[in-house]
Amino acid sequence: MGKKSVVSAIDVGTSKVAAIMADAGDENSFQILGVGVAPSKGLRKGVVVNPDEAREAVREAVRKAEHAAGIKMETAYVGITGRHINSVNTKSAVAVTRGDRVVSPGDLKRVLESARTVSTNAERKLLHVIPRTYTLDGQEGVKNPIGMNGFRLDVETHVVTAATSSVQNLLKCIRGLGVDVEDLVLEPIASSEAVLRPDEKEAGVLMADIGGGTTDIAIFKEGSIWHTAVLPVGGYQLTRDIAIGLGIPFEIAEEIKRKYGTLLEIPGDKENVAKIDGASVGLDNGQEILNQDVNDIVRARIDEMMRMLLLELPHADYASLIPAGIVLTGGVANLPGIDSVAADVFRLPVRVGIPKDVYGLADILYDPAYSTAVGLLIWGARRYSEEEGTPDEGVGVVMGKGLRRFVNKAKHWVNL
Ligand SMILES: Nc1ncnc2c1ncn2[C@@H]1O[C@H](COP(=O)(O)OP(=O)(O)OP(=O)(O)O)[C@@H](O)[C@H]1O
Ligand SMILES: [Mg+2]
Repeated sequence: MGKKSVVSAIDVGTSKVAAIMADAGDENSFQILGVGVAPSKGLRKGVVVNPDEAREAVREAVRKAEHAAGIKMETAYVGITGRHINSVNTKSAVAVTRGDRVVSPGDLKRVLESARTVSTNAERKLLHVIPRTYTLDGQEGVKNPIGMNGFRLDVETHVVTAATSSVQNLLKCIRGLGVDVEDLVLEPIASSEAVLRPDEKEAGVLMADIGGGTTDIAIFKEGSIWHTAVLPVGGYQLTRDIAIGLGIPFEIAEEIKRKYGTLLEIPGDKENVAKIDGASVGLDNGQEILNQDVNDIVRARIDEMMRMLLLELPHADYASLIPAGIVLTGGVANLPGIDSVAADVFRLPVRVGIPKDVYGLADILYDPAYSTAVGLLIWGARRYSEEEGTPDEGVGVVMGKGLRRFVNKAKHWVNL
């Protein structure tokens, strides 16, 4: 039997599917009830390309989480990413309607509704309309205008849309398991929830979640989301480089990367070079692998990835946009020394983000690879507390009713 305060999250990644169930009953924290992880199938660069295969991977992760929690997963917050995601900042305005010119919740609703009318059609679905900042009669930077006096209310929003077909394929594999999708959340936004501090978001910060198939980017400024993007590169490319560079199978290259991959200096001189024992990674032909060769390959690709991140920043004076620097997360952020390579490229502070200390967080989740899953849970727990009547001030995140309707409609497309 389900429990009302249970919040669940499913991160369908290119490398792994992670399902988490938690009790959000306590308004300040939530307690993890169960975690399930399964190797991913049927995904390419963050997008479901084979819903049947993907569903089986999700089924395994969900089953494990349910088993650990001892209850069934009925609904879940689900992450979405991929190159098909589009995000723009838009502006819209309405006249304040009340006779006394005091901004009411109704005005807020109307101004957000008008932001929502942008650029959607049969091929694109609206995922998020996130208010960034309000302007009241020319007074900029208003965080919450309700109760203030004015004639004209402007809002700046971050609007995120996704390709309908990709949304459909993702929904298909979750709904096919009998789990209702509570909300689809853009993965960079979810990861940011788990790893960024409020002071970093206020000052300006870039979060990059480098996963297996995608690099999910979010830039925050003045406490609000400013830019989101998804790049189709990740740890997969690193493994492929090692496999091709050393002439070894992909699976062995993956193991070498995880076990020995590093961006730190490797000890040893010319006479005494550090070598990887081929047999320890399943190579039985006596092939010699030099640590330094792996290091050089990894460094070249990470350096290139960091330069791609740099291109996401709009102008040369990016240091003033993101003085708090870069927070790297996702499985690839486990590479020792990745922070110093990034710092060399950006010349800004860099840290590795691990999911925030949440009460009851299982040990396995203290890993940058779980930032999206934990972030989805934080998002869901906040939604739960809002519905319970304890809204979290300053969050100001609005999800399109349109998407809810779309999710409900999608139930009819999926044969259960
Ligand atoms: N210790 C490690 N050293 C180097 N790379 C690692 C390490 N641990 C994991 N990775 C890499 O991280 C990647 C997986 O990261 P993650 O679990 O965040 O991806 P994902 O969420 O499944 O994929 P995506 O978000 O791209 O859809 C893989 O390429 C994996 O090889
Ligand atoms: Mg991921």
